[in-house]
Amino acid sequence: MATTKLQQARAYEKENMSTVPSSERPCYHVTGPVGWINDPNGFSEYDGFYHLFFQYHPYSVKWGPMHWGHARSRDLITWEYLPAALAPDEEYDRDGCYSGSAITLDDGRHLLIYTAVKKEDKDGSAREFQQQAIAVGDGINYTKSSANPVIGTSMIPQGNSTCDFRDPKVFWENGRYYAVVGSRDKDGFGEALLYESPDCMNWQFVTIVDKSGGAFGRMWECPDYFELNGRRILMASPQELTGDEGFYPGSISVFFIGSAGADLSLDREAIQLIDEGPDFYAPQTMLAGDGRRIMIGWMQNWETSATQSAGRKIFGQMTVPRELEYKNGRVYQNPVREIETYRNGKIICRGATVCGETYFEGINGRIIDLTVTIDFSKNTGLRDFRIELARDDEHSTRMCYDPQNFMVTIDRSRSGCLENPTNIRKFKVEPQRSILKIRMLLDKNSIEFFFNDGQKVASISIYTPLSADAICFYADSEIKMDIEKYDI
Ligand code: FRU
Repeated sequence: MATTKLQQARAYEKENMSTVPSSERPCYHVTGPVGWINDPNGFSEYDGFYHLFFQYHPYSVKWGPMHWGHARSRDLITWEYLPAALAPDEEYDRDGCYSGSAITLDDGRHLLIYTAVKKEDKDGSAREFQQQAIAVGDGINYTKSSANPVIGTSMIPQGNSTCDFRDPKVFWENGRYYAVVGSRDKDGFGEALLYESPDCMNWQFVTIVDKSGGAFGRMWECPDYFELNGRRILMASPQELTGDEGFYPGSISVFFIGSAGADLSLDREAIQLIDEGPDFYAPQTMLAGDGRRIMIGWMQNWETSATQSAGRKIFGQMTVPRELEYKNGRVYQNPVREIETYRNGKIICRGATVCGETYFEGINGRIIDLTVTIDFSKNTGLRDFRIELARDDEHSTRMCYDPQNFMVTIDRSRSGCLENPTNIRKFKVEPQRSILKIRMLLDKNSIEFFFNDGQKVASISIYTPLSADAICFYADSEIKMDIEKYDI
């Protein structure tokens, strides 16, 4: 039986979903039915569907008391909304059902594990408790366990923060359940804790998987821990980076890459930024039945959540689900292959000449899959190249490339976003055997760039009017390139 709070949320989303203008609702990216969303939660396969839950505040386009919204899909591209799954309606989660994950139990039921948040004001001093709780259900309705919270603050290492203990990611390995949870140690630095359980009810602490020790941000949010092509990857979203770590300042998401010890702690060898774009955070993965490790992220970031334009009915969207593969010393990301079945209206221009500002017949649109390939061994004179997407007289989103220094600049300061220092991003992408390949997935309010078959990725949200659908190429000397474009 849904509680009053959950019933209210379900009634609200049902009533208000249709008031969202179609220009705001992406075609193949998940948003909330209405209101605000942040992190992807409970990404899993259950009962013949892929399920995706999300941090959700249906009642406004601002973060608020967290619920879990819910959608499902047969192919990760076309999504159907289901009623909200969790509301903050128990004493122990009255201040929010924060991020978490899902798994199928032996008896066939679907289990959600999430962070239950409770704030207390005792003798004038405010305290917050974050503990892990479970709810079990059938893919639509979930009942919270009477044993909640199942991983309480009494189970954290001594001195760790009781108010920064969140985002459990559950997985099955070596004949038992594990959950990796974000935490902060006694010095206030981030770490990922590992718990194990025979049944998802009774948990015990195993080890610290990896930690910042002051060198890599403070709280580590939304950890995930998995094998990928023989490597062990801890994925996490550290907060409060200074910028001196070699990445962007603020909140970012990274792969910590290494191998796992006998107790499953990580022997870390490398750190890789997951996405170079300003709009990416809190990703979560799922191991699909066919063996693919698929990741989805929030196509937004706390640093950019103020870039939305006013008067919108929904805020926040997910990235396209991405297949992960470890090779050549990096984790590669590519859109799930299912998107290819949605391609139509193929246009291929081989050896297309670009000189100055150049447009091509049929190469335009806002819901497209576009790939541009440049061979620098044949275009040696090029110094300045760019592609302007979602362009009209007032707007354009630019991807500029400097082949001398291998630098990409992504500039969305004329993309309908409010002013923000993150509107311009610069990063390095080297051609591979002199070839640079750029795949761009556009949906109504986003562009995802995949360089060199997923070697580097950058995601941005844009708020350009949909009528701005021109694509302009520019080269400072005559060059030839291949263009392949599909409508989605
Ligand atoms: C990450 C995060 C999580 C938390 C959730 C709250 O974006 O801060 O750590 O569970 O969002 O909505």
